[in-house]
Amino acid sequence: MTEQRHSGKAAMVTGGASGIGRGCVERLAAEGADVMIADVADADEAIAACADLPGRVQAVSCDVTDEQAVSDAVSATVDAFGSLDISVNNAGIVFVAPIVDSKVADWRRLMDVNVIGVYLGTRAAAQQMIEQGRGGVIVNASSGGGRHGVPNFAHYCASKAAVIMLSQSAAIELAPHKIRVNCYTPGHIKTPFWRDIASGYAEVAGITEDEAIAAFEDTVPWGRFGTPEDVAGAVSWLASDDAEYVSGQCIAMNGAELPW
Ligand SMILES: NC(=O)c1ccc[n+]([C@@H]2O[C@H](COP(=O)([O-])OP(=O)(O)OC[C@H]3O[C@@H](n4cnc5c(N)ncnc54)[C@H](O)[C@@H]3O)[C@@H](O)[C@H]2O)c1
Repeated sequence: MTEQRHSGKAAMVTGGASGIGRGCVERLAAEGADVMIADVADADEAIAACADLPGRVQAVSCDVTDEQAVSDAVSATVDAFGSLDISVNNAGIVFVAPIVDSKVADWRRLMDVNVIGVYLGTRAAAQQMIEQGRGGVIVNASSGGGRHGVPNFAHYCASKAAVIMLSQSAAIELAPHKIRVNCYTPGHIKTPFWRDIASGYAEVAGITEDEAIAAFEDTVPWGRFGTPEDVAGAVSWLASDDAEYVSGQCIAMNGAELPW
């Protein structure tokens, strides 16, 4: 078999059953990594799509808000593939809520998945990588919304800004262990996630879901929504040795939307 840039590495991708996470699973496995999908959703379809790729792909049921489940998912990765070298903390949720109508319980649920989930994934990966003693790579899901405010998405933007600061701080702290920590900030990527945005935004703006999708697409200078593959290529590069001196950074993939 041809040597690929991730050959011999093991990765775990949270939220890898769908959308951007699934795109990352496919790209990492195509480039030789063995990949564990850690998701609350069924991952059979994602696993089947990777059947002919050089890397092995398996799944473990994991709710990223559950401390024990995240730690168990890392253990499952090490048991299956012998190590954890790449940790992609991608799982996240979204909903649309004007501040005046928003509910504390909804804010807490979103912060639990988007912030605590990334924290637990970063912590568990770092613990394992420090024990292995040969560095590693952590890549966390932020968003363009983590860099600028968006009306009706205050909860989501706040959670994604937290991911940026968590990742930058961890990058400095873990550098002596040669563990790199970066995040990606996608713009508008067409995934199942957009069902929640389109239905919520249509309700708030009094338009149809199709009109909501078209309105968002119109804001992208590149003229189209991004795809999971648009994000996965950059994530795979961040995970590679070509990015060896890149840590504490946010990489945007957003079709030239501001801000970068
Ligand atoms: N799609 C976009 O336009 C966009 C833009 C910016 C940022 N992002 C971020 O990228 C990441 C992936 O988004 P996506 O568009 O692929 O979403 P998606 O809804 O298509 O996929 C999310 C995946 O996460 C899983 N998940 C949700 N809650 C979980 C939990 N508690 N534990 C484990 N898994 C859980 C889901 O089952 C699903 O498989 C998210 O963090 C999202 O905030 C997406």
